[in-house]
Amino acid sequence: MKRVALLGGSFDPIHNGHMQMANTAIELLRVDEVWFIPTFATPLKERALTSKEHRKAMISLAIEGKPKFRLEPIEIERAEKSYTIDTLKELKHRYPDHEFVYLIGSDQVEQFDQWKDHDALLKLAEFVGIERDHTFGSNPCDLPCIHMKDVPVSSSLVRNGMRLDYVDAKVLQYIYTNRLYIKDFIKCRVHEHRYLHSCSVADLCEAFAVCNGYDGNKAYLIGLFHDVCKELDHKQMRAWIKKIAPQYLDAHPAIWHGFVGGQVVKSVFRMKDWQIGNAIHWHVLGQSKDPYAMIVYCADKLDPLRGYDSYELIEQCKKDIYKGFVAVKDQNDKYLKEKEKK
Ligand SMILES: [Fe+2]
Ligand SMILES: [Fe+2]
Repeated sequence: MKRVALLGGSFDPIHNGHMQMANTAIELLRVDEVWFIPTFATPLKERALTSKEHRKAMISLAIEGKPKFRLEPIEIERAEKSYTIDTLKELKHRYPDHEFVYLIGSDQVEQFDQWKDHDALLKLAEFVGIERDHTFGSNPCDLPCIHMKDVPVSSSLVRNGMRLDYVDAKVLQYIYTNRLYIKDFIKCRVHEHRYLHSCSVADLCEAFAVCNGYDGNKAYLIGLFHDVCKELDHKQMRAWIKKIAPQYLDAHPAIWHGFVGGQVVKSVFRMKDWQIGNAIHWHVLGQSKDPYAMIVYCADKLDPLRGYDSYELIEQCKKDIYKGFVAVKDQNDKYLKEKEKK
C-alpha cells in the first residue's frame, strides 16, 4: 500500500514553487510519492494553454532523477474538461490499494464547499491545503492545512521571462529550444514596433544561419533578444556599463544596449551559450568576427521593416555571411560618415 500525494495544475510551465509543494508533501504528510497531474484545460482562464506534449515534457525534465515524483497524465490524456471527482474515482479504480492525499492551494480551501461533489471527494482522498503565506482565509470544510515556505514565483511570471532562476535549468533549456513563451519575454519589455523588429531580425538571423550551415535556433534567439535592453533608461544602463564595459562610459548611450543586453541574456535569461551573449554584446558596433555576431549585425541592419530595399545584401548574407558582413559594414560606415557630415 502506498500513500500518494496528488498535485494538479496546468504546469504552464512547471517551476520551483511546484517542486517546493511536492517536497513539502514528502516531508510533512508522510507520503511515499507525489504525482503531478497536468490539467487538459482550465476553461475559466482565457489564455490557451501550451500544448500537452510540451507541458508533459517539461514536468518530466523537472522530476528527472527524483524517484519519488511521477508524472500522471490521467487528465491531460482524457482530452476534455475533468472534474476532480472523476479523476479520483479513476485513480481509485486503477490503484485500489493506494491511499491518496490531494493537495490544494489555500485559495481553493476557501471555496472547497463549491467544488463538485465535495462530500464524495472527501471519502476518496484526504484533501490538504497548502498555505504559502500567513494570511488566513475561511475554511468552510475544516480541511487540514500545512504551511509551505513561500517561493516567489508563478507560471505567469515565468511566461513573461521573470524569476527564471526559479525554473529548472533543463526546463529552461527546453523552453528556449522549443521557443515557448519567448516572444512574450520580449513583448513585455519593449514597445510594439521594437518587438516587431526583434521578431523580424530573429527570422532573418535564422535564415542566415541555416543558409550558412550554422545553428538556426541559436541565431533566432540572438535575433529575438538583441534589443531586449534597448528601452532601459540611461541611468540603469550606466550602472551596468560601469561594471561591464567602463571604457564605453563616455561613448554615446545609444551603443550601450548591446553591451547590457549581452550581459542580461546571461544573468537574467540564463542563456549559458557564450556565443549568444557575445553576439548581442557586439551587435551595435559589429566588432566581432564570430559567425553569430556577424549574423545578428547584418540581420539588424538589413531588417526589411526598416523600410529600405535590402534584398541584394540579404541574398549576399545568405550565400556567404562573411562577405555579406563586410558589405553591410562598409555600407553602414558610409552611412555614418554621411550622417556626421550633415
Ligand atoms: Fe540594437
Ligand atoms: Fe535592432
